[in-house]
Amino acid sequence: MGGDDIDKQAENIAELIVNAQRCLVFSGAGISTESGIPDFRGEDGIWTKLDPEDFTIQRFVARPEVRKVQWKLLAEGGLVKNVQPNAAHYAVAEMDKLGKLDCVVTQNIDNLHQTAGVPDDKVFELHGNMQYVRCLSCRKRFPMGEIISRLAREELPECEACKGILKPDAVYFGEMLPQAVLSEASRRANLCDLCIVIGSTLVVYPAAYIPEYAFNAGAKIVIINIGSTPMDSRAAVRIEGKAGEVMGKVMNHVRNRIRK
Ligand code: APR
Repeated sequence: MGGDDIDKQAENIAELIVNAQRCLVFSGAGISTESGIPDFRGEDGIWTKLDPEDFTIQRFVARPEVRKVQWKLLAEGGLVKNVQPNAAHYAVAEMDKLGKLDCVVTQNIDNLHQTAGVPDDKVFELHGNMQYVRCLSCRKRFPMGEIISRLAREELPECEACKGILKPDAVYFGEMLPQAVLSEASRRANLCDLCIVIGSTLVVYPAAYIPEYAFNAGAKIVIINIGSTPMDSRAAVRIEGKAGEVMGKVMNHVRNRIRK
């Protein structure tokens, strides 16, 4: 897509944002790749290097060697190294500051929307968050940093309270999503009049129902993604482009319109 096309499309998205009453942003791993976090199914995605089967709750619980590999990855900063929000995260946070964001529903576990400035109560993390570790037996929760600090001497940390299996508080395949989060995100999707999808293949359910609920409730759909998605044909605006660059252009147009 040429530069002029992207800018024209960005202007169309800005028009939709300015006129929307309730805008829901739905984000996937593609919004965080420009922060240095690999996505899952894009080029060089995580699933081209790791086996998604190892991230099923069944295999994580059954195989200590699988848990050891994942704790080693975390000790090396593999998934939660010190990363910073990028222009796309800051653009979404600016939408909130301008009073043009109802909420963010994210599949990401990196906390970058909150770090960029979106208030916690406006971020619905469908797949949990890597800031914490949970004991699968007594459900006690620990800060991720506390467990990582133990990894230098323990390759398989156990719950100090009950010796149970510890797992990062992200949702693994085969695990239930946090029900209260999913139902509030679904409720918001049914109420929004604009749903902006940023950086997702929209192939993992039930998360991918969110933009579908919005569409079925009559909301306009915007998709900003590198690569096609199953919802492209239902998008009012669909941009093939990098999240940071596109959202930067969008917010330039939003600022100009609001200033008029
Ligand atoms: N700008 C725009 N799009 C991008 C960018 C970028 N800078 N970088 C990557 N993308 C696109 C990729 O091409 C891909 O189409 O973002 C999409 C990311 O899709 P996935 O890797 O499938 O990530 P996501 O949709 O979030 O996956 C959903 O699957 O494995 C599970 O739990 C995991 O939450 C994850 C879920």
